[in-house]
Amino acid sequence: MAGMLPPTTFKGKTIIVTGGGTGLGKSISKYLLQLGAQVVITSRKKEVLEKSSTELHTETGGTVLAVPCDIRKYNEIENLIDQTEKKFGTIHGVLNNAAGNFISPTERLSHRAFDIVVDIVLKGTYYMTLAIGKNWIAKKQPGIFLNIVTTYAWTGSGYVVPSACGKAGVLALTRSLAVEWAKYNIRSNAIAPGPFPTEGAWSRLLPGELVNQFNPAQRVPLKRVGEHQELANLAAYLLSDYAAYINGEVITIDGGEWLRNGGEFSHLEEIPETTWDELEKSRGKSS
Ligand code: HXC
Ligand code: NAP
Repeated sequence: MAGMLPPTTFKGKTIIVTGGGTGLGKSISKYLLQLGAQVVITSRKKEVLEKSSTELHTETGGTVLAVPCDIRKYNEIENLIDQTEKKFGTIHGVLNNAAGNFISPTERLSHRAFDIVVDIVLKGTYYMTLAIGKNWIAKKQPGIFLNIVTTYAWTGSGYVVPSACGKAGVLALTRSLAVEWAKYNIRSNAIAPGPFPTEGAWSRLLPGELVNQFNPAQRVPLKRVGEHQELANLAAYLLSDYAAYINGEVITIDGGEWLRNGGEFSHLEEIPETTWDELEKSRGKSS
């Protein structure tokens, strides 16, 4: 899977990627660097960030700044903005990608377990958005927010209820500010990915033996999981000026997964051809 945008798409642009040291955030950061961006990766774990920053620089030759920041702490976000401006001057875009998640029957959760996920997913994204938005508005500077949600942001989903509530909130935030802050030339969009294998997601959503019992690719009509570059292509496009007229949109990239599982009769794909043959024959007889 090749990159799709011209190599200078982000020349002179600075993008902050939350959760940029691992998984999808790291893959998207890599592609942004290949397209000429200066990328600031941020998350809680300093060692992970520093290792990823070195790797990303070695692989792309691009300029990466690693700044530890817990997005649940507003003062740490203010420090992130300070450090970014000192190094690069202007911030052009933010990829709100950091999240926390795990599977559990809801009745087994403690109230603290609910808080821990919603605080990262919704409050963290809200804090980042508020701090950066105030900065852009004060400086009369345009900007772009791209928020990573999930398809269960609108369907809901059992067993990941705190994450579903948090992501639904992020989707509402995206759509609300797309309208409210358009007057400041600040765009807000979201991406809803289906299954894209990462250590972070797989270890928490398919722990232990579950990884051998549930194959996420089987739920997808295209019968495969996503490739990181496919997501990176979409994210880079939405963050770029090529998408200047896209605002308030959520784009699904899931191989048709959520539609298939929402369709009342989609499970009929489990019926073998021979059964369909028999049904057709019996219909022929009766008509
Ligand atoms: C039930 C759990 C739990 C679990 C933690 N808790 N794990 N409850 N089941 N598996 C509870 C604890 O008992 C505790 O409550 C509270 O949550 C806080 O736990 P800590 O371990 O102290 O939290 P912390 O160290 O801050 O870690 C946060 C975390 C962790 C969210 C639990 O997993 C994390 O750091 N995640 C970041 C990365 C991540 O989650 N990536 C996956 C994103 S994937 P009590 O009451 O006992 O104190 C994703 C994909 C979506 O979003 C869609 C896929 C298709
Ligand atoms: P991941 O590697 O675990 O990414 C989550 C990142 O968030 C980590 O880098 C983590 O770093 C960071 N983070 C967590 N809490 C934070 C906090 N309080 N402050 C700052 N950073 C924090 O998992 P992933 O699969 O790449 O997920 C990335 C995004 O894609 C998430 O929004 C997820 O919901 C979404 N998504 C993933 C899939 C998939 O199939 N993988 C599908 C749909 C949506 P630290 O631990 O160092 O803080």
